Amino acid sequence: MPDTLLLPASPEAFARAGELLRAGELVGFPTETVYGLGANAYDGAAVEKIFIAKGRPQNNPLIVHISDMDMLGGIVARVPERAAVLAERFWPGPLTMIMPKNARIPSVVSAGLDTVGVRFPSDPACMEMIRAAAVPVAAPSANRSGLPSPTRAAHVMADMRGRIPLIIDGGPCRFGLESTVIDLSDPDRPPCLLRPGAVTLDMLRGALGEVEVSGGVLSPLAQGVQARSPGLMHKHYSPEHARVVLLGGSHLAEYIGGYTPSHRCALIAKRGAVEQTAIPGCELVLLGESDEEYAASIFDALRTLDDGRCDLIFCQATGTGGIGLAVMNRLLRSAGFNIVETDV
Ligand code: TXA
Ligand code: MG
Repeated sequence: MPDTLLLPASPEAFARAGELLRAGELVGFPTETVYGLGANAYDGAAVEKIFIAKGRPQNNPLIVHISDMDMLGGIVARVPERAAVLAERFWPGPLTMIMPKNARIPSVVSAGLDTVGVRFPSDPACMEMIRAAAVPVAAPSANRSGLPSPTRAAHVMADMRGRIPLIIDGGPCRFGLESTVIDLSDPDRPPCLLRPGAVTLDMLRGALGEVEVSGGVLSPLAQGVQARSPGLMHKHYSPEHARVVLLGGSHLAEYIGGYTPSHRCALIAKRGAVEQTAIPGCELVLLGESDEEYAASIFDALRTLDDGRCDLIFCQATGTGGIGLAVMNRLLRSAGFNIVETDV
């Protein structure tokens, strides 16, 4: 594979990406959530390359991305009524809906399931690229499997250089966390939130009424329980070198002080949390005051701090309202579902 080309989002870049996708190649591209690693969703051989480039387990299905509603008919067997309601409210945007799969979509996309996840992203560069390809684009996040998702083109370059021909640089992603995933495939069961995101649980309940939250969102799946989403079973968002420790409560400085003599430490926190008390020997990364700002920068911060400079990355816990649920879902997974209470 020749070196990976990085092109700023432009009509030329979209045209080049469209050609590559139609020719069965992979392209790294921006979305409003995280960067994706795309292939033509109708081309099973092209989609297989995604699993190889990422080192992704074969049993973890991909999301299919569309740039207009007409594409949906070739991807799903039928559009559930609730999906039509959510599409009207939240598409284009950071919402993936699991629906019954159309036989036209190769089984490698859905990892053998009879359902398929579909998303209509709102990022203009992403839309232009899919339009140029003129086919639906199957894409997971563009990280090597297990690492934090990429929210900048440089992250994709770090993980995919030499493995794919082209990355489109659309700047930093607006939301910074992957899309909300909701399962609507069974009309006889309540809709089920599989992965929280920027389309929040309250927004979904506001549109649909009852929405269940899948096990695995804020606690590990119980032994022997069949995951409704294979992604719930896999290790995720883990830096390569450092260990992530999730801290609740307000005595962060005292707690971390117990580790600074023997470990190289960093703390990722919300502004206002700790800056009054600098923690000697601990690098402090403040991501803003709101959960939206925390979400937008958390993966970038984890990647930046994981260049070998620290052994322990402490992350401040946040509330589970709004997008906080998505932030906590990602942080709990990167910390192996452990949260240390510092107020006791
Ligand atoms: O924001 C996003 O969703 C990004 C951008 C690129 O669109 N994509 C993304 O894809 O995060 P990925 O593959 O990293 O995560 C997709 C999640 C996985 O947890 C997968 O198991 C789940 O969605 N999923 C996909 N298809 C499914 C299906 N048919 N049934 C249940 N879960 C599914
Ligand atoms: Mg992913």
